[in-house]
Amino acid sequence: MSDKRKIILDVDTGTDDAVAIMCAYLDPAIDLIGVCTVAGNKTLPFTTENTLRVKDLLKADFPVHKGCSVAMVSTLLPNRHGDYKGQRTQVEGMDKPIEIHTDYLELPPSVSKVEPEHAVWYYIDTLMKSDGDITLVPVGPLTNVAMAMRIEPEICGKIKEIVLMGGGRNRTNTSIAAEFNIWADPEAAQIVMDSGCPIRIVPLDATQRACINADETKYLRTLNNPVATAVADCVDHRILAYSHLQPMERLDSAPVHDALAVCAVAHPEVLKDVLFTRVDIDISGGFADGQTIVDPRAYTDRPRNAYFAMNSDRDLFASWMMDCVKRFQA
Ligand code: RIB
Ligand code: CA
Repeated sequence: MSDKRKIILDVDTGTDDAVAIMCAYLDPAIDLIGVCTVAGNKTLPFTTENTLRVKDLLKADFPVHKGCSVAMVSTLLPNRHGDYKGQRTQVEGMDKPIEIHTDYLELPPSVSKVEPEHAVWYYIDTLMKSDGDITLVPVGPLTNVAMAMRIEPEICGKIKEIVLMGGGRNRTNTSIAAEFNIWADPEAAQIVMDSGCPIRIVPLDATQRACINADETKYLRTLNNPVATAVADCVDHRILAYSHLQPMERLDSAPVHDALAVCAVAHPEVLKDVLFTRVDIDISGGFADGQTIVDPRAYTDRPRNAYFAMNSDRDLFASWMMDCVKRFQA
Protein backbone atom coordinates (compact mmCIF):
# COMPACT_ATOMS: atom_id res chain seq x y z
CA MET A 1 0.00 0.00 0.00
CA SER A 2 1.69 3.22 -1.16
CA ASP A 3 1.61 6.14 1.27
CA LYS A 4 1.84 8.57 -1.66
CA ARG A 5 -1.02 11.06 -2.00
CA LYS A 6 -3.05 10.18 -5.09
CA ILE A 7 -4.04 13.38 -6.87
CA ILE A 8 -5.85 14.59 -9.97
CA LEU A 9 -4.65 18.02 -11.12
CA ASP A 10 -7.11 20.35 -12.89
CA VAL A 11 -5.21 22.96 -14.87
CA ASP A 12 -5.55 25.93 -17.24
CA THR A 13 -1.92 25.69 -18.33
CA GLY A 14 -0.49 28.59 -17.98
CA THR A 15 3.03 29.23 -16.85
CA ASP A 16 2.42 28.45 -13.18
CA ASP A 17 0.20 25.47 -13.97
CA ALA A 18 3.12 24.07 -15.97
CA VAL A 19 5.42 24.27 -12.94
CA ALA A 20 2.67 22.71 -10.81
CA ILE A 21 2.40 19.72 -13.16
CA MET A 22 6.17 19.20 -13.21
CA CYS A 23 6.47 19.34 -9.43
CA ALA A 24 3.40 17.15 -8.87
CA TYR A 25 4.88 14.51 -11.16
CA LEU A 26 8.32 14.67 -9.52
CA ASP A 27 7.35 15.00 -5.84
CA PRO A 28 8.05 11.53 -4.34
CA ALA A 29 5.16 12.00 -1.92
CA ILE A 30 2.61 12.44 -4.73
CA ASP A 31 1.08 9.96 -7.20
CA LEU A 32 -0.22 12.09 -10.08
CA ILE A 33 -2.89 9.76 -11.47
CA GLY A 34 -4.42 12.17 -13.99
CA VAL A 35 -4.58 15.72 -15.30
CA CYS A 36 -7.73 17.51 -16.48
CA THR A 37 -7.68 20.69 -18.54
CA VAL A 38 -10.08 23.60 -18.40
CA ALA A 39 -10.40 26.99 -20.10
CA GLY A 40 -9.01 29.85 -18.04
CA ASN A 41 -5.70 31.58 -18.60
CA LYS A 42 -6.20 30.78 -22.26
CA THR A 43 -8.92 28.98 -24.24
CA LEU A 44 -9.20 25.22 -23.91
CA PRO A 45 -7.19 24.30 -27.03
CA PHE A 46 -4.22 26.26 -25.71
CA THR A 47 -4.46 25.05 -22.12
CA THR A 48 -4.74 21.47 -23.34
CA GLU A 49 -1.87 21.71 -25.83
CA ASN A 50 0.34 23.29 -23.18
CA THR A 51 -0.51 20.52 -20.73
CA LEU A 52 0.42 17.88 -23.31
CA ARG A 53 3.70 19.68 -23.98
CA VAL A 54 4.57 19.44 -20.29
CA LYS A 55 3.60 15.76 -20.25
CA ASP A 56 5.96 15.13 -23.19
CA LEU A 57 8.80 17.03 -21.51
CA LEU A 58 8.38 14.85 -18.41
CA LYS A 59 8.18 11.67 -20.53
CA ALA A 60 5.20 10.98 -18.29
CA ASP A 61 2.37 8.52 -18.74
CA PHE A 62 -0.45 10.19 -16.76
CA PRO A 63 -3.67 10.55 -18.78
CA VAL A 64 -4.75 14.05 -19.87
CA HIS A 65 -8.51 14.61 -20.14
CA LYS A 66 -9.90 17.69 -21.86
CA GLY A 67 -12.63 19.46 -19.89
CA CYS A 68 -14.96 22.42 -20.13
CA SER A 69 -14.34 25.26 -22.55
CA VAL A 70 -16.59 27.83 -20.90
CA ALA A 71 -17.80 28.72 -17.40
CA MET A 72 -21.07 27.25 -16.14
CA VAL A 73 -23.25 30.37 -16.37
CA SER A 74 -21.21 33.55 -15.79
CA THR A 75 -20.64 34.33 -19.45
CA LEU A 76 -24.38 34.35 -20.17
CA LEU A 77 -24.49 37.95 -18.95
CA PRO A 78 -21.93 39.71 -21.16
CA ASN A 79 -21.80 42.78 -18.93
CA ARG A 80 -20.80 40.55 -16.02
CA HIS A 81 -17.32 39.76 -17.24
CA GLY A 82 -16.94 42.50 -19.78
CA ASP A 83 -14.30 41.90 -22.36
CA TYR A 84 -11.65 40.58 -20.00
CA LYS A 85 -8.67 39.68 -22.10
CA GLY A 86 -6.14 39.19 -19.34
CA GLN A 87 -3.51 41.65 -18.27
CA ARG A 88 -1.04 42.68 -20.93
CA THR A 89 1.20 45.67 -21.57
CA GLN A 90 3.52 46.81 -24.36
CA VAL A 91 7.14 46.86 -23.24
CA GLU A 92 9.70 48.90 -25.21
CA GLY A 93 11.80 46.71 -27.44
CA MET A 94 9.34 43.81 -27.40
CA ASP A 95 7.44 43.04 -30.59
CA LYS A 96 4.20 42.12 -28.81
CA PRO A 97 2.54 42.95 -25.50
CA ILE A 98 3.77 40.97 -22.53
CA GLU A 99 1.32 38.72 -20.65
CA ILE A 100 1.74 36.48 -17.60
CA HIS A 101 0.62 33.51 -19.73
CA THR A 102 1.63 33.00 -23.36
CA ASP A 103 -0.66 31.22 -25.84
CA TYR A 104 1.88 28.41 -26.14
CA LEU A 105 4.53 27.38 -23.65
CA GLU A 106 8.03 27.54 -25.13
CA LEU A 107 8.20 23.76 -25.49
CA PRO A 108 8.03 21.56 -28.60
CA PRO A 109 4.56 20.95 -30.05
CA SER A 110 2.87 18.03 -28.33
CA VAL A 111 3.22 14.44 -29.46
CA SER A 112 0.97 12.82 -26.85
CA LYS A 113 -2.81 13.02 -27.22
CA VAL A 114 -5.72 13.61 -24.88
CA GLU A 115 -7.78 10.67 -23.68
CA PRO A 116 -11.17 10.18 -25.35
CA GLU A 117 -13.14 10.56 -22.08
CA HIS A 118 -14.20 14.11 -21.18
CA ALA A 119 -12.70 15.35 -17.91
CA VAL A 120 -16.10 15.56 -16.19
CA TRP A 121 -16.85 11.90 -16.89
CA TYR A 122 -13.28 10.96 -15.99
CA TYR A 123 -13.84 12.51 -12.57
CA ILE A 124 -17.14 10.71 -12.09
CA ASP A 125 -15.89 7.29 -13.29
CA THR A 126 -12.58 7.48 -11.42
CA LEU A 127 -13.97 8.80 -8.13
CA MET A 128 -16.95 6.42 -8.03
CA LYS A 129 -14.61 3.44 -8.57
CA SER A 130 -12.10 4.69 -5.98
CA ASP A 131 -11.65 3.88 -2.29
CA GLY A 132 -12.11 7.56 -1.45
CA ASP A 133 -8.33 8.07 -1.48
CA ILE A 134 -8.05 10.67 -4.28
CA THR A 135 -7.26 14.35 -3.67
CA LEU A 136 -8.42 16.87 -6.26
CA VAL A 137 -6.04 19.78 -6.90
CA PRO A 138 -7.83 22.34 -9.07
CA VAL A 139 -5.59 25.27 -9.99
CA GLY A 140 -7.80 26.92 -12.61
CA PRO A 141 -11.50 27.78 -12.79
CA LEU A 142 -13.55 25.10 -10.99
CA THR A 143 -15.88 24.37 -13.90
CA ASN A 144 -14.92 20.70 -14.41
CA VAL A 145 -15.15 19.81 -10.72
CA ALA A 146 -18.47 21.60 -10.22
CA MET A 147 -20.01 20.07 -13.35
CA ALA A 148 -19.01 16.59 -12.13
CA MET A 149 -20.61 17.33 -8.74
CA ARG A 150 -23.82 18.46 -10.39
CA ILE A 151 -24.03 15.43 -12.65
CA GLU A 152 -23.11 12.89 -9.93
CA PRO A 153 -23.39 14.35 -6.39
CA GLU A 154 -22.25 11.00 -4.99
CA ILE A 155 -18.66 11.86 -5.91
CA CYS A 156 -18.57 14.38 -3.05
CA GLY A 157 -18.45 11.48 -0.60
CA LYS A 158 -15.62 9.89 -2.54
CA ILE A 159 -13.22 12.87 -2.58
CA LYS A 160 -10.49 12.67 0.08
CA GLU A 161 -9.76 16.40 -0.03
CA ILE A 162 -9.83 19.36 -2.41
CA VAL A 163 -6.69 21.52 -2.31
CA LEU A 164 -7.40 24.43 -4.60
CA MET A 165 -5.48 27.49 -5.70
CA GLY A 166 -7.91 30.39 -5.74
CA GLY A 167 -9.39 33.34 -3.97
CA GLY A 168 -7.98 36.04 -1.79
CA ARG A 169 -8.99 37.79 1.41
CA ASN A 170 -6.66 40.80 1.54
CA ARG A 171 -5.23 40.29 -1.95
CA THR A 172 -6.91 40.20 -5.38
CA ASN A 173 -5.68 40.29 -8.96
CA THR A 174 -8.40 40.18 -11.61
CA SER A 175 -10.75 42.76 -10.17
CA ILE A 176 -11.02 45.01 -7.14
CA ALA A 177 -12.50 42.06 -5.25
CA ALA A 178 -11.59 38.80 -6.93
CA GLU A 179 -8.85 36.37 -7.85
CA PHE A 180 -8.89 34.95 -11.38
CA ASN A 181 -9.76 31.26 -10.85
CA ILE A 182 -12.78 32.10 -8.73
CA TRP A 183 -13.75 35.17 -10.78
CA ALA A 184 -13.74 33.14 -14.02
CA ASP A 185 -16.48 30.80 -12.79
CA PRO A 186 -17.98 32.00 -9.48
CA GLU A 187 -20.96 29.63 -9.54
CA ALA A 188 -18.63 26.65 -9.96
CA ALA A 189 -16.64 27.83 -6.97
CA GLN A 190 -19.78 28.16 -4.82
CA ILE A 191 -20.86 24.63 -5.78
CA VAL A 192 -17.48 23.38 -4.54
CA MET A 193 -17.76 25.46 -1.31
CA ASP A 194 -21.16 23.83 -0.67
CA SER A 195 -19.98 20.30 -1.53
CA GLY A 196 -19.23 19.16 2.01
CA CYS A 197 -15.81 17.94 0.86
CA PRO A 198 -12.74 18.72 3.01
CA ILE A 199 -11.35 21.87 1.37
CA ARG A 200 -8.02 23.63 1.71
CA ILE A 201 -7.80 26.96 -0.09
CA VAL A 202 -4.41 28.31 -1.21
CA PRO A 203 -5.26 31.96 -2.00
CA LEU A 204 -3.26 34.95 -3.17
CA ASP A 205 -2.63 35.85 0.50
CA ALA A 206 -0.40 32.77 0.61
CA THR A 207 0.91 32.54 -2.96
CA GLN A 208 2.04 36.16 -3.26
CA ARG A 209 4.16 35.67 -0.13
CA ALA A 210 5.96 32.71 -1.69
CA CYS A 211 7.56 34.31 -4.73
CA ILE A 212 10.42 32.59 -6.55
CA ASN A 213 13.24 34.95 -7.49
CA ALA A 214 15.86 35.41 -10.22
CA ASP A 215 18.67 34.03 -8.03
CA GLU A 216 16.71 30.77 -7.82
CA THR A 217 16.06 30.60 -11.56
CA LYS A 218 19.77 31.18 -12.16
CA TYR A 219 20.47 28.20 -9.89
CA LEU A 220 17.92 26.06 -11.75
CA ARG A 221 19.75 26.73 -15.00
CA THR A 222 22.99 25.36 -13.53
CA LEU A 223 21.37 21.94 -13.07
CA ASN A 224 21.56 21.16 -16.81
CA ASN A 225 18.26 19.36 -16.53
CA PRO A 226 15.52 20.06 -19.12
CA VAL A 227 12.78 20.23 -16.50
CA ALA A 228 14.79 22.60 -14.30
CA THR A 229 15.40 24.75 -17.39
CA ALA A 230 11.70 24.71 -18.28
CA VAL A 231 10.80 25.77 -14.74
CA ALA A 232 13.37 28.56 -14.96
CA ASP A 233 11.90 29.65 -18.32
CA CYS A 234 8.36 29.75 -16.89
CA VAL A 235 9.40 31.62 -13.76
CA ASP A 236 11.67 34.09 -15.56
CA HIS A 237 8.82 34.87 -17.95
CA ARG A 238 6.58 35.46 -14.93
CA ILE A 239 9.19 37.66 -13.24
CA LEU A 240 9.38 39.89 -16.33
CA ALA A 241 5.59 40.03 -16.70
CA TYR A 242 4.96 40.63 -12.98
CA SER A 243 7.53 43.41 -12.86
CA HIS A 244 5.41 45.29 -15.39
CA LEU A 245 1.89 44.14 -14.50
CA GLN A 246 1.77 43.23 -10.79
CA PRO A 247 5.08 44.21 -9.11
CA MET A 248 5.74 42.08 -6.02
CA GLU A 249 7.62 43.17 -2.89
CA ARG A 250 10.84 41.86 -4.51
CA LEU A 251 10.81 43.16 -8.12
CA ASP A 252 12.86 40.27 -9.53
CA SER A 253 10.44 37.65 -8.24
CA ALA A 254 7.02 36.27 -9.06
CA PRO A 255 4.42 34.04 -7.44
CA VAL A 256 4.06 30.52 -8.81
CA HIS A 257 0.54 30.19 -7.46
CA ASP A 258 -0.39 26.69 -8.62
CA ALA A 259 2.83 25.02 -7.55
CA LEU A 260 2.21 26.19 -3.97
CA ALA A 261 -1.12 24.34 -3.96
CA VAL A 262 0.71 21.19 -5.09
CA CYS A 263 3.37 21.67 -2.42
CA ALA A 264 0.63 21.98 0.22
CA VAL A 265 -0.85 18.59 -0.69
CA ALA A 266 1.96 16.54 0.85
CA HIS A 267 3.66 19.32 2.82
CA PRO A 268 0.86 21.18 4.65
CA GLU A 269 3.43 22.93 6.83
CA VAL A 270 4.17 25.21 3.87
CA LEU A 271 0.91 27.01 4.60
CA LYS A 272 0.80 29.37 7.58
CA ASP A 273 -1.84 31.34 9.50
CA VAL A 274 -4.51 28.94 8.31
CA LEU A 275 -8.10 29.83 9.25
CA PHE A 276 -10.86 27.22 9.49
CA THR A 277 -13.97 29.19 8.71
CA ARG A 278 -16.87 29.75 6.36
CA VAL A 279 -15.99 30.72 2.80
CA ASP A 280 -18.59 31.68 0.22
CA ILE A 281 -18.39 33.28 -3.20
CA ASP A 282 -20.08 36.46 -4.38
CA ILE A 283 -22.12 35.43 -7.43
CA SER A 284 -24.17 38.62 -7.56
CA GLY A 285 -22.53 39.94 -10.69
CA GLY A 286 -21.76 43.24 -9.03
CA PHE A 287 -18.50 44.98 -8.18
CA ALA A 288 -17.47 42.09 -5.93
CA ASP A 289 -18.40 39.32 -8.37
CA GLY A 290 -16.18 36.29 -7.71
CA GLN A 291 -14.96 37.52 -4.32
CA THR A 292 -14.10 34.87 -1.74
CA ILE A 293 -16.03 36.02 1.31
CA VAL A 294 -14.09 34.74 4.31
CA ASP A 295 -16.16 34.87 7.51
CA PRO A 296 -13.99 36.59 10.16
CA ARG A 297 -16.33 35.85 13.06
CA ALA A 298 -15.66 33.35 15.82
CA TYR A 299 -19.19 32.03 15.25
CA THR A 300 -20.43 31.52 11.69
CA ASP A 301 -24.04 31.54 10.49
CA ARG A 302 -23.29 28.67 8.15
CA PRO A 303 -21.13 25.60 8.79
CA ARG A 304 -17.38 26.17 8.48
CA ASN A 305 -16.36 24.64 5.16
CA ALA A 306 -12.73 25.43 4.36
CA TYR A 307 -9.20 25.90 5.62
CA PHE A 308 -7.97 29.23 4.20
CA ALA A 309 -4.24 29.98 4.29
CA MET A 310 -3.36 33.61 5.00
CA ASN A 311 0.41 33.11 4.63
CA SER A 312 3.10 30.67 3.51
CA ASP A 313 6.70 29.61 4.13
CA ARG A 314 8.53 30.94 1.07
CA ASP A 315 11.87 29.29 1.75
CA LEU A 316 10.29 25.88 2.32
CA PHE A 317 8.34 26.24 -0.93
CA ALA A 318 11.44 27.26 -2.91
CA SER A 319 13.56 24.39 -1.56
CA TRP A 320 10.74 21.92 -2.24
CA MET A 321 10.56 23.13 -5.87
CA MET A 322 14.33 22.75 -6.32
CA ASP A 323 14.25 19.26 -4.78
CA CYS A 324 11.41 18.19 -7.09
CA VAL A 325 13.05 19.31 -10.33
CA LYS A 326 16.41 17.79 -9.36
CA ARG A 327 14.71 14.39 -9.38
CA PHE A 328 14.04 14.48 -13.12
CA GLN A 329 15.96 11.80 -15.00
CA ALA A 330 16.37 12.92 -18.63
O1 RIB B 1 -4.88 33.99 -9.88
C1 RIB B 1 -3.90 33.04 -10.16
C2 RIB B 1 -4.48 31.85 -10.83
O2 RIB B 1 -5.08 32.24 -12.06
C3 RIB B 1 -3.43 30.79 -11.21
O3 RIB B 1 -4.00 29.52 -11.16
C4 RIB B 1 -3.09 31.15 -12.62
O4 RIB B 1 -2.61 30.02 -13.37
C5 RIB B 1 -4.42 31.59 -13.13
O5 RIB B 1 -5.15 30.42 -13.49
CA1 CA C 1 -3.90 28.10 -13.14
